[in-house]
Amino acid sequence: MNTQELVALCNQQFNEKFGENPQKIVLSPGRINIIGEHIDYNHGFVLPAAIDKYICFAISKNDTADCNIISLDLKDEYHFKITDKIEPVSQNWVNYFLGVFNQVQDKIDSGFNIVFSSTVPIGAGLSSSAALECGFLFGLNHFFNLNLNKEQIAKMGQKAEHTFAGVNCGIMDQFASVFGKENHVIFLDCDTLDYQYAPADFGDYTLLLLNTNVKHNLQTSEYNNRRKECEAGIALIQSKYPEVKNFREATMEMVEDLKEEMGDVVYRRSKFVVGEISRIQELVKSLEKNDFENVGKLMTTTHYGLSKDYEVSCEELDFLVDNVLLEEGVLGARVMGGGFGGCTINLLKKTEVENVIEKLSKAYQEKFGIALTPYQVSVSEGTHFYA
Ligand code: GLA
Repeated sequence: MNTQELVALCNQQFNEKFGENPQKIVLSPGRINIIGEHIDYNHGFVLPAAIDKYICFAISKNDTADCNIISLDLKDEYHFKITDKIEPVSQNWVNYFLGVFNQVQDKIDSGFNIVFSSTVPIGAGLSSSAALECGFLFGLNHFFNLNLNKEQIAKMGQKAEHTFAGVNCGIMDQFASVFGKENHVIFLDCDTLDYQYAPADFGDYTLLLLNTNVKHNLQTSEYNNRRKECEAGIALIQSKYPEVKNFREATMEMVEDLKEEMGDVVYRRSKFVVGEISRIQELVKSLEKNDFENVGKLMTTTHYGLSKDYEVSCEELDFLVDNVLLEEGVLGARVMGGGFGGCTINLLKKTEVENVIEKLSKAYQEKFGIALTPYQVSVSEGTHFYA
């Protein structure tokens, strides 16, 4: 489904359910990340971009006390009153809305109707949850004059994830969804939230996503564990090197020096983080020089670090990366996002895309009996109203 069809569907269904046109349509995008994985919560840099896959919200204020939210994709609805006590509920998708609503409830003086649908696949590592949180808040910001700027929207989206979805995530996904810019990647300093846009131009090469269509249920608990392991790593570094504020200021020598004290797991996590923080800076320089070969190499190094040291990959993702790298014209590949399933991101010659999709789909089907879903995405604008 393309974006126009998505908007038309939400419009039409809103009309059917509520007997009028929606007052606004919000489009909130998913994101990719070129490099800088599991680095946002470690005070490093990341290089994400919003993509042309969206959650579409048809929204109206209804001048009653009733809030009605209808998910077309899940064929589910949720209803509550603006004065209700807001707490997490058993329907997972609802918690993203409630986690946002909870933060602004005292400023909401009317109910609203929402119909939403998505072309961001769920559980694919493209951050449908950030798109949901930020898109909803973007809509509320308009209707209830909340005067929130983009940074506040991103941070409140992240808070919803922490408090109502139980994922202690960093800021990358929400930031990318809100700040995305057409044909640009965002070089984001996760410490200061300073950012710069750089052209998403890969010359004769392009990015291709391959969705494993698996989502291992360790995702949330292991994500939160990684944060704790990194906290343990930086605490040990600081105990010996008190001048080090965070992982950005740590060096590989320090990590090696503390190898014994850290123990195997914390050592490998810390090694990955320090390596990844320096890789992203090198990758940005390579992009500026159009050195796509090196961009690809760095992406692949990241993959093996995420797989072996950070341990957030899985058999299906490793299989795709190992095999895609055997194909002509592929410069690099890696698991993208939180891990434990979802997509790989691949940098390859534009002319080889069809061949790679065909070969990998066949191999993946044969090996796992699962169909692979390829996505050729364009880099797009962040959360916005559909005019
Ligand atoms: C998830 C989180 C992000 C980030 C990535 C890994 O997508 O929501 O904050 O940590 O994993 O880079």
